[in-house]
Amino acid sequence: MLNLKNSNIEVTKVSASKINDVDFDNLSFGKVFSDHMLICTYKNGAWNVPEIVPYQPLTLDPSAKIFHYGQAIFEGLKAYKDANNDVFLFRPYENCKRLNISAKRLAIPELPETYFMEGLKTLLQVDKEWIPTKDGSSLYIRPFIFASGEGFHASPSNEYTFIIATAPSGAYFSGEVTVLIEEHYSRSANGGVGYAKAAGNYAGQFYPTQLAVKKGYNQVIWTDDNAHEYIEEAGAMNIFIRINDTLITSPTSDRILDGVTRKSILDIAKNEGIDFEVRKITVSEVVEAANNGNLKEMFGAGTAAVISPISGFGYKNKDYKLPNLENTYASKLKKRITDIQTNKAEDIFGWRVKI
Ligand code: COI
Repeated sequence: MLNLKNSNIEVTKVSASKINDVDFDNLSFGKVFSDHMLICTYKNGAWNVPEIVPYQPLTLDPSAKIFHYGQAIFEGLKAYKDANNDVFLFRPYENCKRLNISAKRLAIPELPETYFMEGLKTLLQVDKEWIPTKDGSSLYIRPFIFASGEGFHASPSNEYTFIIATAPSGAYFSGEVTVLIEEHYSRSANGGVGYAKAAGNYAGQFYPTQLAVKKGYNQVIWTDDNAHEYIEEAGAMNIFIRINDTLITSPTSDRILDGVTRKSILDIAKNEGIDFEVRKITVSEVVEAANNGNLKEMFGAGTAAVISPISGFGYKNKDYKLPNLENTYASKLKKRITDIQTNKAEDIFGWRVKI
């Protein structure tokens, strides 16, 4: 059944909501979960119709391939409520498209777009009260697919589970963000899975990030795996660098995630008349710009991180501070994008989707 309508989706509601236990004024990121989740399984060569069920633990066979071979992908997007209590998503079709790009790379069967979109809309209608309204908070949505089929054979699973879980969330970073430019470890390589939202891409970053955190940084800036010469992306976000008045970001590639926030920023920059370049950025030009005062801003961009200014970076045992400017590109772009997301501003790009 590919032409799913949300009326085909069975909904089983919780007997008692947990919503009154949640402090919506002090939300952290992704720590409390809404009452319901969407679940949909793939068996015998087809995706079954999704269902909405109470948020609950899963039972899996110890031989499920996710545990052994990491065959899993995910997405991240957000739902926002405006002053009239209307609910909006931001470019959700892009997330669905990217989920299937990731699926293909990980040999996971593609999910029909209607299952994703109609399933998500139904879930949001059921858990509408869980969407926060406080400035800076939103309902973080985590769609994911993993290999739930059994067996130790190192080959793609024949069964999969697609889930959408949601979490009312505040900011991803709690304070200033500092980064360490990586000189040894790599996040991804040509021909690898760097462009996919593969679960293992993130697991592979944890150890180098722990080392960076021990040195006092929040995140690692990944460089190319070959010579660690070019700036690529950070653990949870794409990277933008402003040298003088030009905003620069790396082109997407086999190794770099095609971020929805990243491409939205480029469209907004163009519309705002901000000079920008999509090109390879060398570490040495960033260090040189920092040394001669031309490095004005660095910021990360991602669904979870939104636009997170970077206050300093470390490279070759030396720390560099970013200037504390007023009227930054980061704040201008962040306001523009969040105003579109929360229906406070006109959406000339057609990105907002009303639920
Ligand atoms: C997102 O920004 O939604 C992501 O998926 C990044 C994740 C590591 C929090």
